[in-house]
Amino acid sequence: MEYKRLLISFSRLVLASMFCLLHRTNGDISYSVPEEVKNGYIIGNLAKDLGISVKTLSTRKARLDMDDASMRYCDINANTGDLIVAQRIDRDSICGPTTVCLLKYEIVLENPLELHHVTVEIMDINDNSPIFANDVIELEIRESTDKGTRFPINEAHDADIGLNGVQRYNLQENDHFSFVLHKKPGEGKYGELLLDRELDREKQQELTLLLTAIDGGTPQRSGTVVIHVKVLDANDNAPVFSKNVYKISVPENSPVGTLLLTVSATDADEGVNGEVTYEFGHISRDVSKLFTLDSKTGNVALNGTLDFERKSSYELGIKAKDGLGLASFASVIVEIVDVNDNAPVIHLKSLNNPIPENALPGTEVAIINVQDKDSEENQQIRCAIHGNVPFKLNSSVKNYYSLVTTSELDRELVSEYNITITATDGGTPPLSSFKTIHLSVSDVNDNPPVFKEQSYSAYVPENNKPGFSICTVNAIDPDWRQNGTVFYSLVPRELHGVQVSSFLSINGETGVIHAVRAFDYERFRSFKVHILARDNGSPPLSSNVTLNVFITDENDNAPQILYPSPDGNSFMTEMVPTSALSGSLVSKVIAVDADSGQNAWLSYQIVKTTDPGLFTIGLYSGEIRTHRDVSESDNMKQNLVVSVKDNGKPALSTTCAIYLVISDNMSEISELKERSHNEDTSKLTFYLIISLVSVSIFFLTFIILVLAVKFCHRKKRQLLFDGAVAIPSAYLPPNYGEVEGAGTLRTSYNYDTYLTTGSRTSDFKFVTSYDENSLPTISTPRKGNDGDIHGSLLDTEQVWASDVLLSRMNNYKL
Ligand SMILES: *[C@@H]1O[C@H](CO)[C@@H](O)[C@H](O)[C@H]1NC(C)=O
Ligand SMILES: *[C@@H]1O[C@H](CO)[C@@H](O)[C@H](O)[C@H]1NC(C)=O
Ligand SMILES: *[C@@H]1O[C@H](CO)[C@@H](O)[C@H](O)[C@H]1NC(C)=O
Ligand SMILES: *[C@@H]1O[C@H](CO)[C@@H](O)[C@H](O)[C@H]1NC(C)=O
Ligand SMILES: *[C@@H]1O[C@H](CO)[C@@H](O)[C@H](O)[C@H]1NC(C)=O
Ligand SMILES: *[C@@H]1O[C@H](CO)[C@@H](O)[C@H](O)[C@H]1NC(C)=O
Repeated sequence: MEYKRLLISFSRLVLASMFCLLHRTNGDISYSVPEEVKNGYIIGNLAKDLGISVKTLSTRKARLDMDDASMRYCDINANTGDLIVAQRIDRDSICGPTTVCLLKYEIVLENPLELHHVTVEIMDINDNSPIFANDVIELEIRESTDKGTRFPINEAHDADIGLNGVQRYNLQENDHFSFVLHKKPGEGKYGELLLDRELDREKQQELTLLLTAIDGGTPQRSGTVVIHVKVLDANDNAPVFSKNVYKISVPENSPVGTLLLTVSATDADEGVNGEVTYEFGHISRDVSKLFTLDSKTGNVALNGTLDFERKSSYELGIKAKDGLGLASFASVIVEIVDVNDNAPVIHLKSLNNPIPENALPGTEVAIINVQDKDSEENQQIRCAIHGNVPFKLNSSVKNYYSLVTTSELDRELVSEYNITITATDGGTPPLSSFKTIHLSVSDVNDNPPVFKEQSYSAYVPENNKPGFSICTVNAIDPDWRQNGTVFYSLVPRELHGVQVSSFLSINGETGVIHAVRAFDYERFRSFKVHILARDNGSPPLSSNVTLNVFITDENDNAPQILYPSPDGNSFMTEMVPTSALSGSLVSKVIAVDADSGQNAWLSYQIVKTTDPGLFTIGLYSGEIRTHRDVSESDNMKQNLVVSVKDNGKPALSTTCAIYLVISDNMSEISELKERSHNEDTSKLTFYLIISLVSVSIFFLTFIILVLAVKFCHRKKRQLLFDGAVAIPSAYLPPNYGEVEGAGTLRTSYNYDTYLTTGSRTSDFKFVTSYDENSLPTISTPRKGNDGDIHGSLLDTEQVWASDVLLSRMNNYKL
């Protein structure tokens, strides 16, 4: 300051000496006066400077003239001759910014007129402070403004000049701005606010700076202005997510609309620049359909159904964006939690269907595979078989099971199985599924045919027609198709030297047994055959059964009268002694019947008599007895006709005549005998001729028949079919077409003849046979031939022996 004052004083001194110099040369007077001095301030002594006395000055009427009468700031003090300040002198208003401010006066003296120029220079004093145009300068600066940018500030105005004018500016200490003053010559001074460091609205929304303008006067004066900087927002902040990665676990069965989570991002910017909206980043179309993102709230919700098995997690890119497009990204990882929503699935990988019934236990039937799409324990599967079936599951490989048999199978008991396999997973609650395997058991020929009965008996009435069906055998084979198709045949065997096939034939398919020929009870009463039932498997299985054929008697034989002999020589005459008393046995009719039982139960009746009442016959004994005493008056010749009738239905009967002579004289009887004997011999000759002729005819017929049958037989071949399976003809049962000698059967007859019961001559068998040459073997039967033929044949010798016996008996009686 001291330096400044010295400098000012020095400059004044220089100015004063300059004026003196002027004064001297020009004769003009110059003064200087500081502005704003009091009225009456003595600027200088005019009298002295003009060289005239004060008195002269007044006498010469010294006057101060100036161009502009209104600007009369000075006056002359007539008493002292001083130039004084008469009015407030404000340099700043008089001269403004003009550096040299001069007031020019003329001093006029009269008597003589004299003109002097007086110049008064107004000296500036620092009486004005710098002033800014406004109290506050408002500035709006965008925060994005680069550093180095300048903002012009209106300079402060100081009415003073020179050093008293604004010399410098002082900006309040701050972080961002500095003040630069430009003093370009000719352009005046101006100040600029220079941005030294960028602004950040987010840190500081506004700044208030105080700018002080300082002048160079003494004392110093200053003026201030407030610079109010409003920092405008620039979109310089991207939204920021609260997390980089959001994770959420959600059960797969969550319903549509479930709110998963809310993402949030904040943007430090304001207004539009801070308005955050959310959207999905780059995700596939499918996924974008599955989730929704609320663009305002950031809520991520489910818009579809999740399936853990399809995808166990999703990663969603989410973009947060502010109004002007700055964005940032985060990702949402949605982990899907498995829920037991998949039932196990059973796949049948292989199946051996059908399985033969002879498969050993442990045979693998099927392979199944189980799968569950769930995970962890929801995927643990247990398998079981339902019901009581001879199968089990054997798990050898994970998730694979083999179905094996546990016991032997029998198609005939169970031919098919429905095996239900259940698979259950380990979830809570567990899910299960089942599969039914349909398994058929295929047949093996393991069952022979079995006859329904252990043995069969057939009762055949004799004299049956050939082809008569006598019985049906039935065998069951539970096997399947040809393994269970039964064929019947007769076991070949000889009966009395003849093949059974000439007695019986069997229908191979139906088991119906037919008689090939007529049977004669009187020849044999029963026989046995074996019937074979065979199935068509390969190899075939068979079984056999015995059939007992019982021939039942028919009343086909009329009683045969043995005595009295029906032929000629038996034309016998019984002699009745005249002395016979009532009840005497006179004779006996002896008859036999080849039949048996009732059919052979004979009864006797006298159907015609010479003298009714004289003789009676025992109904069953055939004994003829006198009914009363014989008297002389009785006719000597008594003829009786006796009818012998069996008890069959219908009954058959035979009659015979008995000639009785009531006499005691032998010779009378002999006479009668001879007479009748002659008649009989002629009859016998006639019968012999007839027999010879018939035998010849029969022999010829037989030869022809044999030839014919042989010829036909050669041509015949027969096949039977079961479905498509050909049966070899070797198994064929005999049937009618192949039976030889069918025509020969009827030619043999055997008789069992019985003496009537009740006869005194006891029971003995009396059998005869005729037509022996047609069946020669039968005439000499082997005894005890399996007992097949009950009853026996007596040969001719025996017959004759009986005759002798009988006649002896008669003689005895007589
Ligand atoms: C939600 O799902 C429905 C039905 O599938 C579909 O029409 C709609 O577009 C989905 N919404 C979104 C936002 O994907
Ligand atoms: C299961 O199968 C394996 C191999 O096939 C065999 O060794 C095992 O004995 C079987 N288990 C049963 C119980 O059959
Ligand atoms: C097995 O199932 C089939 C069809 O479901 C049925 O027709 C058959 O009778 C069943 N068999 C057994 C042995 O249950
Ligand atoms: C009959 O049994 C045999 C085995 O003995 C078998 O191979 C065949 O397939 C069976 N036939 C039928 C029709 O089941
Ligand atoms: C008949 O069956 C028995 C046993 O039942 C057997 O011994 C015999 O050989 C069989 N006969 C024939 C011809 O098959
Ligand atoms: C028996 O009869 C014969 C003749 O018919 C006769 O001659 C004879 O005298 C008789 N005898 C007696 C004893 O009557």
